[in-house]
Amino acid sequence: MASNSSSVSTSAKRLDGKVTVITGGASGIGATTAKLFVQNGAKVVILDVQDDLGHSLCNEIGPEHISYVHCDVTNEAQVEKAIDFAVSKHGKIDVMYNNAGMCGTVNERFRLNLSELK
Ligand SMILES: NC(=O)c1ccc[n+]([C@@H]2O[C@H](COP(=O)([O-])OP(=O)(O)OC[C@H]3O[C@@H](n4cnc5c(N)ncnc54)[C@H](O)[C@@H]3O)[C@@H](O)[C@H]2O)c1
Repeated sequence: MASNSSSVSTSAKRLDGKVTVITGGASGIGATTAKLFVQNGAKVVILDVQDDLGHSLCNEIGPEHISYVHCDVTNEAQVEKAIDFAVSKHGKIDVMYNNAGMCGTVNERFRLNLSELK
């Protein structure tokens, strides 16, 4: 990650000093966002339930840039604890990206029946 991080010039680091919390940050869009934010100078705290992936991402990016907290976002007490961790570690939160979720099956309401439009 260090090489990716250093490939962004200082002037391009638009998130320098910004503290970001990303739910569902251990994989997929959340993990990619975490990498991009760190490349742009942010400090990132990812919350997720996939501990192995979360820790592995932190090792890949560098613990000076990113931290992992186990947090099931459906559990209010865990969310509170995770937010307290982010604030105690960085003193503030600038960006909260509520990304955690699971893609389910497509709801019938969103199916388009073209014959009904004719
Ligand atoms: N990928 C798509 O095409 C698409 C389309 C529409 C919406 N979305 C939404 O975007 C978000 C990210 O999608 P993705 O494709 O990266 O999915 P993903 O499954 O790769 O990543 C989602 C992450 O959220 C975590 N997560 C799930 N439930 C959680 C919980 N209760 N607490 C904490 N973490 C939890 C998972 O462990 C996972 O790491 C999801 O909310 C998804 O519903 C994705």
